[in-house]
Amino acid sequence: MKEKHVTDSVVYIGADDKTLDLFESQYQIPNGISYNSYVILDDKTAVMDTVDLRVSEEWEKNLEEALDGREPDYLVSLHLEPDHSGNILNFARKYPDAKIVMSVKAAMMLPQFFELDSSRIIGVKEGDSLKLGTHVLKFMLAPMVHWPEVMVAYETSEKLLFSADAFGKFGALDTDEEWTDEARRYYINIVGKYGPQVQMLLKKAAGLEIACICPLHGPVLKENLLYCLNKYQQWSSYEAEEDAVLIAYASIHGNTKKAVDKMADILKDRGAKVVLRDLARADMSSVVADAFRYSRLLLAGPTYDLNLFPAVEDFLYHLKIKGWRKRKAGIMENASWAPAAAKLSRAALEEMKEIEIAEPVVSIKTSLKETDIALMEELADELLK
Ligand code: FEO
Repeated sequence: MKEKHVTDSVVYIGADDKTLDLFESQYQIPNGISYNSYVILDDKTAVMDTVDLRVSEEWEKNLEEALDGREPDYLVSLHLEPDHSGNILNFARKYPDAKIVMSVKAAMMLPQFFELDSSRIIGVKEGDSLKLGTHVLKFMLAPMVHWPEVMVAYETSEKLLFSADAFGKFGALDTDEEWTDEARRYYINIVGKYGPQVQMLLKKAAGLEIACICPLHGPVLKENLLYCLNKYQQWSSYEAEEDAVLIAYASIHGNTKKAVDKMADILKDRGAKVVLRDLARADMSSVVADAFRYSRLLLAGPTYDLNLFPAVEDFLYHLKIKGWRKRKAGIMENASWAPAAAKLSRAALEEMKEIEIAEPVVSIKTSLKETDIALMEELADELLK
């Protein structure tokens, strides 16, 4: 971020991380990630969250520059996950007179992370305020967005929402890309399971006039806020964004792929938008985000060791733990002997909520035959109904 000032009184002091291989040890971040932190300068000064230990040095320097010789009065910790709490102990040692403000739940969890004199901690509840001068922070609890102790803070004078992980995005701040795709991949994979809790937060936010959203990852949002809020509304209610068929498939020697390509043509002939993803090669977090994005799923894979092919099983596991629901799904399987993939795919999909399975299941024997086409057309018709 070139512009350090969010407003005249609020300074960005976070840092980009472009060398981390996998965020949370699982998500590819080709454009890095930012750990956001802010300072509010008023009669009192408040630091809004710290950063991951990986970028401590840059954050400390940014903090000193922003304070310009002043001492911080408060550190407000909205979220205890280590990418934001990593420097709480360092901060507390460096600024022994500063108080540390966090939710009561966070204060209870804090000893799991650090040994800190409890007299330094101010535990706050829903609706509590912290007056800094003209600036006043009003706290709203946001449990499971994305940990149980999370809260957000609304600064009333400038109408700023410090939103913790919510409204974050993968990508360092100098990444030149639009917000939606990487915000979706971030949301679905990190917070997606907690849709009902995000809905509760959105209900609280609906009563606020918001000029700017300051998340803990990704850009500060000053424009198109209604668009971003509407996307969160859609994602957290598990509604599809686009009517399209995601064909998520795996193919060992290419025969399932040929069947899938034929199925894509059949669907396109019927006017459908089709998105093909090879589960063995695509980034899993991206395909999971696609499954949330599109209205229909066609799952296709071979039987392998009398089981699901590993990439297909992994995909179904991810859909389940992320709470994927409210979709229509079709199943295609391939087997040279003893087919099991369709049965196991169906069982996995039936464990999820509000999934309608389109019939019939198409079962290919090794390679696609002309005699398979009629059944595929029938499945396409049902999937698109
Ligand atoms: Fe960015 Fe849940 O931490």
